Amino acid sequence: MKNYAELLLKNESYRKYVSCLAELEKERKFCHHDKKHFIEVASLASWAASICRVPHEPQLIMLAALLHDIGRVHGSEHHAKASIGIAKELMLQLRVPEDLQIRVVDLIEAHTIKDDRRNAIKTYDQLRDALKELDEVDRLVYIFAWADNRVRQCFACDAAGECYWDDRRKNMEPINYEVFKI
Ligand SMILES: [Fe+2]
Repeated sequence: MKNYAELLLKNESYRKYVSCLAELEKERKFCHHDKKHFIEVASLASWAASICRVPHEPQLIMLAALLHDIGRVHGSEHHAKASIGIAKELMLQLRVPEDLQIRVVDLIEAHTIKDDRRNAIKTYDQLRDALKELDEVDRLVYIFAWADNRVRQCFACDAAGECYWDDRRKNMEPINYEVFKI
């Protein structure tokens, strides 16, 4: 299979969307939605899926992570819907296999679904317990949305006091990789 994530990162339209988002968020004091965030989400979600033994197609998490917030170029409200529109357009251009496109869209679609319990999960034990209640497909969706939240480093953020996230959602401790040992 071609490396679609690499093709996407080199794609001119994708690069324009990323630059446009960076420009829009230039003065933003809260979390940015930039390439660093996308790669962090992909890394944490892939790692959590591996240790929780949740199978997934190669490239699925990376493509979804690179595209999930890109719709913010049209504003933050309903950005998942806008991200899906852009993701479909770009994946069509790159000839991403249709079944993979569908799975990418599923992950993007679910990442903004509000779930206070999921956002409050900070440790491996809590994540593993929450996954027990879900089937295989939903587990990956859950892990992806969880990682999108958990990568934020509120404990080191100067704007944490003014942030609109509630206290249970904020990450006031770094991820403790020790407790994630296989
Ligand atoms: Fe995100």
